[in-house]
Amino acid sequence: MATTTPFHLVRLGCLAIFLCLAAALPSHSSSSPHVPRYFRRYPVSPRNISVATIQRELGPTLSQGSTIFGPENPGFANATHRFSLLSPPGVQIVVIPAHESDVSEIVKYCVHNTIEFLAYNRGHGSTTSLGKFKGLQINMQLLNNITIAADKKSAMLQGGTYNDQVMRTLWDQGYVTMTGSTDCVGVMGPALGGGHGRYEGMYGLISDNFLQLNVVLADGSAMAVDAKSDPDLWWALQGAGHNFAIVTSLKMRIFPRQVDSWHYHSYYWTGDQLETVFKAMNAFHRSDNGTTPPRMGVNAGAVVMNSTISATEASLYWSFTYAGPAAEAEALLAPFFGSIPNAGEESGDVPYPDLSAAQRVDAAHGGCNSGTYATSSILMRDYNVTAQRRAYDSFNVWAARYPDLGRRARYYYEGYATKAVHEVDDAATAYPHRDETHIVYFSTGVPEGSDLLGPATEWAKATWDIWVEGEDPVRPKIYVNYAKGHSYETTEAIYGYEPWRLEKLRRLKAKYDPQNRFGYYVPIVSK
Ligand SMILES: Cc1cc2nc3c(=O)[nH]c(=O)nc-3n(C[C@H](O)[C@H](O)[C@H](O)COP(=O)(O)OP(=O)(O)OC[C@H]3O[C@@H](n4cnc5c(N)ncnc54)[C@H](O)[C@@H]3O)c2cc1C
Ligand SMILES: *[C@@H]1O[C@H](CO)[C@@H](O)[C@H](O)[C@H]1NC(C)=O
Ligand SMILES: *[C@@H]1O[C@H](CO)[C@@H](O)[C@H](O)[C@H]1NC(C)=O
Ligand SMILES: *[C@@H]1O[C@H](CO)[C@@H](O)[C@H](O)[C@H]1NC(C)=O
Ligand SMILES: *[C@@H]1O[C@H](CO)[C@@H](O)[C@H](O)[C@H]1NC(C)=O
Ligand SMILES: *[C@@H]1O[C@H](CO)[C@@H](O)[C@H](O)[C@H]1NC(C)=O
Ligand SMILES: *[C@@H]1O[C@H](CO)[C@@H](O)[C@H](O)[C@H]1NC(C)=O
Repeated sequence: MATTTPFHLVRLGCLAIFLCLAAALPSHSSSSPHVPRYFRRYPVSPRNISVATIQRELGPTLSQGSTIFGPENPGFANATHRFSLLSPPGVQIVVIPAHESDVSEIVKYCVHNTIEFLAYNRGHGSTTSLGKFKGLQINMQLLNNITIAADKKSAMLQGGTYNDQVMRTLWDQGYVTMTGSTDCVGVMGPALGGGHGRYEGMYGLISDNFLQLNVVLADGSAMAVDAKSDPDLWWALQGAGHNFAIVTSLKMRIFPRQVDSWHYHSYYWTGDQLETVFKAMNAFHRSDNGTTPPRMGVNAGAVVMNSTISATEASLYWSFTYAGPAAEAEALLAPFFGSIPNAGEESGDVPYPDLSAAQRVDAAHGGCNSGTYATSSILMRDYNVTAQRRAYDSFNVWAARYPDLGRRARYYYEGYATKAVHEVDDAATAYPHRDETHIVYFSTGVPEGSDLLGPATEWAKATWDIWVEGEDPVRPKIYVNYAKGHSYETTEAIYGYEPWRLEKLRRLKAKYDPQNRFGYYVPIVSK
């Protein structure tokens, strides 16, 4: 201890001197144009933020229609609604900008006053690192314009747009683009982490379709970024974007919709079909010249207790969707309805925006709900059938031990078509997992007021362990937007194992956000 003391003293001394120097500046320095901003004395901890003060100071700089309010306002609950109630951000004040240019003003004000800020769109961000946040929420809900360009090759989507709105608006005018698969979720939250959805077999990840991003950086400066203007930042925004900027609007590729309906076909299978199903699934995902048929947008599976089928053994629910007519889809699905006896099925043809409901991920099926969930998630290339059997057997054991969790628990298997994702150069963006095909996750709701969060969290980990063992026990991979802040989710598992990736991300972080202001959502550098 004694030997290290002098070192600490020196370091503290430097810090103290810096503060002393800064404190010696004239007291009006923070408003003097002659004193560079970096010499101004910022409080060492965030200043107490009072709604009245911020309304008075920030209010006049924002455009008409912007609002600023705190928890006492009746609109606060709506403005801070979250899908996950586990470890939510500590929002002390909400600012709703009416125009894109306001976002820059808000961030500059926060920086100047050492107030932490966090962009909020549709509140589905669920990582527990959000719980470290305490400060001002920038609520994007008024920035929801969607404008198709005159040449019909792109659309401007503002930073507060969300999936259902974008899918419907474009579809009604004859176009589609890549978004996430669920109605209630924002566009930018998924997109900045790459973004998975039903059109990725045809068009790639959401971020593969970015043409230009209008962003506000950590110091409040606003700029347009594209592949030419700033290749480094452009790279980072496609996969690790939450760590670098607030996007006020996005210019994105759009495509003629080509079809008038999507075909869906959902099956219920008993647990004893598990091996047959997963083997057929693996073959299916290689059936189109080594990949998934690109128009088979997603097949989404679940292991779930369905008491109609069995009260003690989980069953399988699997839903396929295809961008095209029933006959084409059914020809591809022959291996599933031909030889595997099912315990029920549903099928139909619907316009693209109605698929969320058909696949049971819309608002009516809980896609916008609030709740406490214990989750874990991993990426897979093929389904390891042995591991899926072990996970399934484990599901039944846990469900029997904790029936209140068993009724709410699901293993979700998201098998996207990935042809166009694979066609993009792996090194070209910060999205590190192009080789992985399936997103798999465990989720169970935890009943309010129960003491089941502990067991639910253990169940999530036990399932994760089985999956990891069946994949790559040394290098498990996680989709950034499904990461939950568990200690076993390493930065490498999320942002990539190749050493150059994290080196590059950390270098860019030091350049664009040295104070780590964008450090609450799956941070590259922990708070
Ligand atoms: C029910 C459900 C379904 C999902 N479905 C999909 C899916 O189909 N595909 C998929 O890829 N992912 C999906 N996800 C994961 C999803 O990508 C993340 O949860 C995402 O963060 C949600 O974005 P949001 O706007 O709803 O949430 P928010 O909590 O509002 O945003 C999440 C984070 O994104 C950042 N952010 C939001 N808006 C902006 C902006 N304009 N500029 C910069 N940063 C911003 C902020 O850091 C914020 O903390 C799903 C999640 C849930 C809970
Ligand atoms: C911050 O606000 C709290 C509650 O209003 C108050 O008790 C505290 O003294 C304030 N702290 C500072 C540094 O102003
Ligand atoms: C908040 O209210 C607006 C306007 O009524 C509504 O459109 C929006 O869906 C609500 N948001 C949430 C998260 O409930
Ligand atoms: C949305 O677009 C309309 C029409 O172009 C425009 O009047 C309005 O200001 C835009 N809203 C925002 C928030 O940019
Ligand atoms: C099949 O894939 C190979 C390489 O993966 C490619 O060269 C070939 O063109 C593909 N064939 C068809 C019919 O798509
Ligand atoms: C349970 O399975 C049957 C088919 O056997 C299906 O009709 C029903 O909708 C399922 N129940 C739930 C809650 O998914
Ligand atoms: C599949 O998982 C089992 C463990 O459940 C493991 O022993 C086996 O090596 C895995 N197979 C492959 C091909 O990874």
